[in-house]
Amino acid sequence: MEKYRRASDIKAGVVGYSNAFNMGRKQLQEMQKAGMTPLAVCEIDAARLEAARQDFPGIATYSRMDEMLRNPDLDLVVLITPHNLHAEQAIQCLSAGKHVICEKPFAITTEECDAMIAKSREMDLMLTTYHNRHWDPGILAAMRVLQDGRIGEVYKIEANMGGWNRPGEWWRSSKSISGGILYDWGVHLLEYCLQIFADAKLTEVCGFARNGYWREQIRWGADSNEDEGYLVARFDTGQWLRLCITSIDCHLKPSGLDVSGTRGALVVGPGTCKAIWKTDDGSTMTEEFSGLHGDHDKFYANIAAHLVDGEPLIITPEWARRPIHIIDLAGQSAKQGRALASRYD
Ligand SMILES: NC(=O)c1ccc[n+]([C@@H]2O[C@H](COP(=O)([O-])OP(=O)(O)OC[C@H]3O[C@@H](n4cnc5c(N)ncnc54)[C@H](O)[C@@H]3O)[C@@H](O)[C@H]2O)c1
Repeated sequence: MEKYRRASDIKAGVVGYSNAFNMGRKQLQEMQKAGMTPLAVCEIDAARLEAARQDFPGIATYSRMDEMLRNPDLDLVVLITPHNLHAEQAIQCLSAGKHVICEKPFAITTEECDAMIAKSREMDLMLTTYHNRHWDPGILAAMRVLQDGRIGEVYKIEANMGGWNRPGEWWRSSKSISGGILYDWGVHLLEYCLQIFADAKLTEVCGFARNGYWREQIRWGADSNEDEGYLVARFDTGQWLRLCITSIDCHLKPSGLDVSGTRGALVVGPGTCKAIWKTDDGSTMTEEFSGLHGDHDKFYANIAAHLVDGEPLIITPEWARRPIHIIDLAGQSAKQGRALASRYD
């Protein structure tokens, strides 16, 4: 892969500049902080292109991605579009000779991930996913506690998100666009879990889905997401994890991870971490960590260092495929009514 002399030589464009979470502006600002140069924005909504011009005076704007890809100065494209577009757009950008950062989820199916990875290898270009929550304060604190040994050996993680909520009318509630209920926050929660199970190899996944409660009541009808998606993944170490994302559970569980160890537990949210553990005399200790900090600038700092100095990517495409493979297997397993063996670790 060709190296850049300095970070400012890396000229970046984003596709998708929505104001829903302002991820386009946020990522261009993060790139600037890492020394990279924002060059272009592509967006089908003219009002949002105007917003991009105001946010980044002088930036090139396009309403079609193929036109943006013809810009020879463009080195890297960030895709911030609905989930069903990620694989197709990533392959289009790679084919045009551009490095690609895809918002999470990396893609919807394992086959899509495989095709994207194959294209990046063929073109010798970088491919990664914006797993910004890899550096959330809660999971960083959890990883530190796990190293000090106080909760013993981790054997199980339970991850929850949701409650009893009418799904929105947006594309996130459409199965064919979003991939399903597990693909939004489920990918973030699985990525936390896989950091904890970093050395374990996935062996099988059993998935369950409840459908139909909201189906008649929201805009997407038969194409609505599952009311609840649920999976259990087994690892070769004997560890297992369970993920549940729901819109029909009245008994609210805390959002985040419940990590069980042989001597204690961790309760982990995006910005929180609490440890509960047993001492040698059997009494129970609790520590709630405060003043936690994330390290979100690390993502683009690593991208710049990778492209300039060849520093290893932290979020490799194979790493990004792991949560997608689990969710993809869970969906197939729910349909077939049996656990399915994994193809990838
Ligand atoms: N990492 C995070 O913390 C985080 C946070 C929010 C969203 N996301 C992810 O970002 C992605 C986008 O989410 P969002 O909430 O911004 O969605 P959104 O629907 O609000 O924004 C998507 C934008 O893409 C534009 N668009 C669609 N098709 C296009 C095309 N062919 N060419 C150019 N522009 C096109 C739309 O007009 C829209 O403005 C999703 O993958 C989502 O999961 C990640």
